[in-house]
Amino acid sequence: MRIGILTGGGDCPGLNAVIRAVVKSLLRQCGAEVIGIEGGFGGLMGEAPRVRPLDWASVSGILMQGGTILGTSNRANPLRSEAEAARALAHARALGLQALVVIGGDGSMAIAHGLSQRGLPIVGVPKTIDNDIPGCERSFGFDTAVATVTEAIERLQTTAQSHGRVMIVETMGRYAGWIALEAGLAGAADVILLPEIDFDIEAVAAVCRERERRQCYTIVCIGEGAKPIGGALTVQQRIADSPDPIRLGGVAHALAAALQPRLASEVRATVLGHVQRGGSPTPFDRVLATQFGNEAAQLVMRGAFDRMVTLQDGRLGSIALAEAVHGSRRVPLDHPLLRAARQIGVSLGEADRVGGPDVRAGIGPGVG
Ligand code: F6P
Repeated sequence: MRIGILTGGGDCPGLNAVIRAVVKSLLRQCGAEVIGIEGGFGGLMGEAPRVRPLDWASVSGILMQGGTILGTSNRANPLRSEAEAARALAHARALGLQALVVIGGDGSMAIAHGLSQRGLPIVGVPKTIDNDIPGCERSFGFDTAVATVTEAIERLQTTAQSHGRVMIVETMGRYAGWIALEAGLAGAADVILLPEIDFDIEAVAAVCRERERRQCYTIVCIGEGAKPIGGALTVQQRIADSPDPIRLGGVAHALAAALQPRLASEVRATVLGHVQRGGSPTPFDRVLATQFGNEAAQLVMRGAFDRMVTLQDGRLGSIALAEAVHGSRRVPLDHPLLRAARQIGVSLGEADRVGGPDVRAGIGPGVG
């Protein structure tokens, strides 16, 4: 048995842990030969495939390494044309691949499904710091990103306090607010703004002013896909040949510019960017990625193709790739974390809920 494996789309912590688990499971359980495809789907698209053998020694010691030893690409798309797709399939045949494991986000899963439909047996493994893949309640990489953002917020707290400033910290996450929500709560942000809830700039300003009166600083945690009521997304870049051409980014600066004239205290913005995708995976992500890789190997050995590994209700399983490629898994408006945030006085930028101490209930002002 010869099995290929590739990492597609943006990287995230835990990819190497999946590669290691797939390779070790297949070697131990069925003696398969595993071939790493380099540079995402790009490794199947050139004149000749770009590959390297993956044996036990080559995956030893990579569990805690960030990034991906195979390299990746969020532009390479063999479905751009039928000729490109045919070439990728021909390369896979020439390599003697009986199956391919694709570790990637929604774009990679869509490509994987397309190649599956054209005859290449594929198992998908969901990855993204955004935690937004349909059908999977937690993707590896997310926990590490939340830990990174939480630490950043903690660092911003001390400098914000020293200067009595409003500090805005922008997280990644595309159209889903999972990173901003969990890191905002973990870092004790005063205001959390999500793509799922358009914010009222006056409500955000009111929270900052109310805290100014108590000589407090304010921490605002905002997801890159958040926007004001009646406003538009802040697009940083368009990458024409990418499966998902829009790159969000910069909403923190737009919010700072809108808030500053409304406040006495100084406003500063920090865009965390790709630091959220770097570094060593947390223990949680190492374990989840190892489980995902092992499960992918089981699907390969069972011949369950055109499917993606999932975690649902805390259980490992799989769903048809076709189910994983539509839309993004956003924070539901009735999610318990939103209720908890509101009930502890965190503002979500909603007009009718200013946040902070509930003076109507006679509870006095406090700090943080
Ligand atoms: O999907 C992961 C992600 O990091 C998003 O949170 C972010 O919007 C995007 O990728 C950035 O993409 P790139 O690495 O192409 O700038």
